Amino acid sequence: MRGLKGKRVLITGGASGIGAATAARFLEEGSAVVVLDRDAKGRAQILSQLPKLAGAVDADVSSLKQVVEGFVEAVRLLGGVDVLINNAGISIRHNFLDITPEEWDKVIAVNLTGVFYMAQTAARHMWERGSGVILQTASTNGLVGQPYYADYNATKAGVIELTKSMALELAPKVRVCAIAPGYVLTPMQRAEYTDEMLDAVNRKVPLGRHAQPQEIAALFAFLASDDAAYITGHVYTIDGAETAGGLASR
Ligand SMILES: NC(=O)c1ccc[n+]([C@@H]2O[C@H](COP(=O)([O-])OP(=O)(O)OC[C@H]3O[C@@H](n4cnc5c(N)ncnc54)[C@H](O)[C@@H]3O)[C@@H](O)[C@H]2O)c1
Repeated sequence: MRGLKGKRVLITGGASGIGAATAARFLEEGSAVVVLDRDAKGRAQILSQLPKLAGAVDADVSSLKQVVEGFVEAVRLLGGVDVLINNAGISIRHNFLDITPEEWDKVIAVNLTGVFYMAQTAARHMWERGSGVILQTASTNGLVGQPYYADYNATKAGVIELTKSMALELAPKVRVCAIAPGYVLTPMQRAEYTDEMLDAVNRKVPLGRHAQPQEIAALFAFLASDDAAYITGHVYTIDGAETAGGLASR
């Protein structure tokens, strides 16, 4: 990928799944990478798996104070931030009728407010410096409805609109895109799907399988690179054609 060598990249939720694979990919491209994650065990694990990481910062994205302090720490470790992968997220599988106010607030706090806190903090830094790229992890659940994840789906639709609005205001200095993965085989997915459920999903996806986290990382690398210099303000779906057809295709 062109232009990624020496880029300073901050990845939230970088201790696991898509974020961890993205950290590995940017390191392969010659970028300098810091991950930010609230999970201490995960941070220790990723630091030992990826010894070239410039650091692993402890912060919960749902706390503005921790986001601001974590960002300052990332700037200290990297010398600046050129690319933010705004990726940390959580999901809870539950019926719409059973969602409690506490669960609703928790999912919104991490997946939407947390994305906003990180995006605004990074955008102010990039705006002052005249350039930057912000890439945010949405989901196909932000594009089409899916049962048992109403709160999560609402946050991901919010991330897509946040992305488009940010791109309009931050151009021409900062590019902002979202990606919408379908089913990706990560610890998040494994936590809520039995083997039978994973098989059932694989049968329904036209490509016949879940995505590997590395395949999502490749899209992030492309969108952050100079090859994507004219790409901003949109959401890119990567789902093995899961959402390509309507009822007739099922
Ligand atoms: N796995 C999928 O099928 C799938 C599909 C579409 C979108 N996504 C999205 O991709 C992103 C990454 O998911 P994943 O599957 O890699 O999950 P994961 O659970 O493997 O990794 C998520 C990471 O985010 C961290 N995190 C969670 N809440 C945090 C917080 N408040 N502050 C800081 N760090 C926090 C966790 O500690 C973890 O390391 C999420 O936004 C998720 O919604 C996942």
